[in-house]
Amino acid sequence: MDTKINSKKKAAKESDTKDVKMQRVRDIIAKHNFSAQQLIPILQEVQDIYNYLPQDVMEYIAEKLGITAGHVFGVATFYAHFTLTPKGKYVIRVCDGTACHVKQSETLIKTVETELKLDAAKRASDDGLFTLETVACLGSCGTAPVVVINEEVHGNMTKEKTVELIKNIRLREKGAAAK
Ligand code: FES
Repeated sequence: MDTKINSKKKAAKESDTKDVKMQRVRDIIAKHNFSAQQLIPILQEVQDIYNYLPQDVMEYIAEKLGITAGHVFGVATFYAHFTLTPKGKYVIRVCDGTACHVKQSETLIKTVETELKLDAAKRASDDGLFTLETVACLGSCGTAPVVVINEEVHGNMTKEKTVELIKNIRLREKGAAAK
Protein backbone atom coordinates (compact mmCIF):
# COMPACT_ATOMS: atom_id res chain seq x y z
CA MET A 1 0.00 0.00 0.00
CA ASP A 2 2.72 2.42 1.09
CA THR A 3 4.72 1.48 -1.97
CA LYS A 4 1.71 2.30 -4.18
CA ILE A 5 1.29 5.72 -2.55
CA ASN A 6 5.00 6.40 -2.86
CA SER A 7 5.09 5.51 -6.55
CA LYS A 8 2.01 7.69 -7.20
CA LYS A 9 3.67 10.56 -5.36
CA LYS A 10 6.86 9.98 -7.30
CA ALA A 11 4.99 9.98 -10.65
CA ALA A 12 3.20 13.21 -9.69
CA LYS A 13 6.50 14.81 -8.66
CA GLU A 14 8.14 13.74 -11.93
CA SER A 15 5.35 15.21 -14.04
CA ASP A 16 5.53 18.43 -11.96
CA THR A 17 9.24 18.61 -12.64
CA LYS A 18 8.61 18.02 -16.33
CA ASP A 19 6.07 20.86 -16.47
CA VAL A 20 8.35 23.19 -14.54
CA LYS A 21 11.21 22.45 -16.94
CA MET A 22 9.01 23.04 -19.99
CA GLN A 23 7.86 26.34 -18.51
CA ARG A 24 11.49 27.36 -18.12
CA VAL A 25 12.11 26.44 -21.77
CA ARG A 26 9.16 28.64 -22.80
CA ASP A 27 10.55 31.50 -20.67
CA ILE A 28 13.99 31.18 -22.24
CA ILE A 29 12.59 31.27 -25.78
CA ALA A 30 10.43 34.30 -24.91
CA LYS A 31 13.39 36.04 -23.25
CA HIS A 32 15.25 35.70 -26.55
CA ASN A 33 12.27 37.12 -28.46
CA PHE A 34 11.62 33.88 -30.38
CA SER A 35 14.66 34.81 -32.45
CA ALA A 36 16.36 32.15 -34.57
CA GLN A 37 19.53 34.28 -34.31
CA GLN A 38 19.58 33.41 -30.62
CA LEU A 39 19.50 29.66 -31.20
CA ILE A 40 22.92 28.94 -29.62
CA PRO A 41 22.30 30.84 -26.35
CA ILE A 42 18.84 29.28 -26.18
CA LEU A 43 20.29 25.78 -26.57
CA GLN A 44 22.92 26.55 -23.94
CA GLU A 45 20.35 27.65 -21.40
CA VAL A 46 18.06 24.73 -22.19
CA GLN A 47 20.93 22.29 -21.82
CA ASP A 48 21.60 23.76 -18.37
CA ILE A 49 18.08 22.73 -17.38
CA TYR A 50 18.19 19.14 -18.64
CA ASN A 51 21.91 18.47 -18.62
CA TYR A 52 21.48 17.51 -22.29
CA LEU A 53 19.21 18.42 -25.20
CA PRO A 54 16.18 16.13 -25.39
CA GLN A 55 14.90 15.54 -28.93
CA ASP A 56 11.31 16.62 -28.24
CA VAL A 57 12.53 19.86 -26.68
CA MET A 58 14.70 20.62 -29.71
CA GLU A 59 11.67 20.06 -31.93
CA TYR A 60 9.66 22.41 -29.73
CA ILE A 61 12.37 25.09 -29.97
CA ALA A 62 12.44 24.71 -33.76
CA GLU A 63 8.69 25.19 -33.97
CA LYS A 64 8.75 28.27 -31.74
CA LEU A 65 11.65 29.87 -33.63
CA GLY A 66 10.08 29.12 -37.01
CA ILE A 67 13.01 27.03 -38.23
CA THR A 68 13.32 23.35 -39.10
CA ALA A 69 14.13 20.70 -36.52
CA GLY A 70 16.98 19.68 -38.84
CA HIS A 71 18.52 23.14 -38.42
CA VAL A 72 18.40 22.85 -34.62
CA PHE A 73 19.85 19.29 -34.68
CA GLY A 74 22.55 20.50 -37.07
CA VAL A 75 23.67 23.23 -34.66
CA ALA A 76 23.39 20.93 -31.63
CA THR A 77 25.56 18.26 -33.22
CA PHE A 78 28.08 20.72 -34.67
CA TYR A 79 29.21 22.12 -31.33
CA ALA A 80 30.99 19.69 -29.01
CA HIS A 81 29.59 21.67 -26.09
CA PHE A 82 26.12 20.27 -26.72
CA THR A 83 25.13 16.76 -25.80
CA LEU A 84 22.14 14.87 -27.16
CA THR A 85 22.15 11.99 -24.73
CA PRO A 86 21.25 12.19 -21.05
CA LYS A 87 24.10 12.57 -18.62
CA GLY A 88 24.24 11.01 -15.19
CA LYS A 89 23.39 13.05 -12.12
CA TYR A 90 27.12 13.05 -11.35
CA VAL A 91 29.52 13.88 -14.16
CA ILE A 92 32.96 12.54 -13.35
CA ARG A 93 35.62 14.40 -15.29
CA VAL A 94 39.04 12.81 -15.20
CA CYS A 95 41.75 15.17 -16.37
CA ASP A 96 44.06 13.65 -18.93
CA GLY A 97 46.15 16.74 -19.60
CA THR A 98 49.93 16.33 -19.65
CA ALA A 99 50.58 16.77 -15.90
CA CYS A 100 47.76 14.40 -14.96
CA HIS A 101 48.69 11.92 -17.66
CA VAL A 102 52.24 11.72 -16.32
CA LYS A 103 50.74 11.01 -12.89
CA GLN A 104 48.75 8.03 -14.14
CA SER A 105 45.37 9.58 -14.96
CA GLU A 106 44.93 6.59 -17.26
CA THR A 107 44.66 4.35 -14.19
CA LEU A 108 41.92 6.59 -12.78
CA ILE A 109 39.97 6.43 -16.04
CA LYS A 110 40.24 2.63 -16.03
CA THR A 111 39.20 2.52 -12.37
CA VAL A 112 36.04 4.54 -13.04
CA GLU A 113 35.27 2.38 -16.08
CA THR A 114 35.62 -0.79 -14.03
CA GLU A 115 33.59 0.55 -11.10
CA LEU A 116 30.75 1.73 -13.31
CA LYS A 117 30.97 -1.01 -15.96
CA LEU A 118 31.75 1.47 -18.73
CA ASP A 119 33.91 1.25 -21.82
CA ALA A 120 35.08 3.51 -24.64
CA ALA A 121 31.60 3.55 -26.20
CA LYS A 122 29.48 3.44 -23.05
CA ARG A 123 30.09 6.52 -20.90
CA ALA A 124 27.01 6.56 -18.66
CA SER A 125 26.21 4.08 -15.91
CA ASP A 126 23.04 1.97 -16.15
CA ASP A 127 21.58 3.46 -12.97
CA GLY A 128 21.68 6.93 -14.55
CA LEU A 129 23.85 8.23 -11.73
CA PHE A 130 27.21 8.70 -13.43
CA THR A 131 28.74 9.92 -16.66
CA LEU A 132 32.46 9.66 -17.29
CA GLU A 133 34.26 12.30 -19.32
CA THR A 134 37.93 12.70 -20.07
CA VAL A 135 39.03 16.30 -20.26
CA ALA A 136 42.15 18.32 -21.00
CA CYS A 137 43.97 20.40 -18.37
CA LEU A 138 41.66 21.72 -15.67
CA GLY A 139 44.19 24.29 -14.54
CA SER A 140 45.08 22.53 -11.32
CA CYS A 141 48.27 20.76 -12.43
CA GLY A 142 49.93 21.33 -9.04
CA THR A 143 47.58 18.74 -7.56
CA ALA A 144 47.66 16.28 -10.47
CA PRO A 145 46.07 13.88 -11.08
CA VAL A 146 42.75 15.68 -10.82
CA VAL A 147 39.17 14.42 -10.87
CA VAL A 148 36.17 16.75 -10.88
CA ILE A 149 32.76 15.49 -9.89
CA ASN A 150 30.16 18.03 -10.96
CA GLU A 151 31.70 21.21 -9.50
CA GLU A 152 33.85 19.54 -6.84
CA VAL A 153 37.57 19.36 -7.56
CA HIS A 154 39.58 16.47 -6.11
CA GLY A 155 43.35 16.69 -6.37
CA ASN A 156 46.16 14.19 -5.78
CA MET A 157 43.81 11.41 -6.71
CA THR A 158 44.55 7.74 -6.41
CA LYS A 159 42.74 4.66 -7.54
CA GLU A 160 41.56 4.02 -3.96
CA LYS A 161 40.31 7.58 -3.44
CA THR A 162 38.38 7.42 -6.73
CA VAL A 163 36.64 4.19 -5.70
CA GLU A 164 35.86 5.77 -2.32
CA LEU A 165 34.27 8.85 -3.90
CA ILE A 166 32.00 6.71 -6.07
CA LYS A 167 31.12 4.52 -3.11
CA ASN A 168 30.18 7.56 -0.99
CA ILE A 169 27.96 9.01 -3.71
CA ARG A 170 26.18 5.67 -4.07
CA LEU A 171 25.62 5.47 -0.32
CA ARG A 172 24.35 9.03 -0.20
CA GLU A 173 21.94 8.36 -3.08
CA LYS A 174 20.70 5.18 -1.46
CA GLY A 175 20.07 7.07 1.77
CA ALA A 176 18.19 9.81 -0.10
CA ALA A 177 16.06 7.25 -1.97
CA ALA A 178 15.13 5.51 1.30
CA LYS A 179 13.73 8.73 2.81
S1 FES B 1 46.91 18.52 -16.63
FE1 FES B 1 45.37 17.95 -15.24
S2 FES B 1 45.02 19.77 -14.16
FE2 FES B 1 46.50 20.34 -15.59
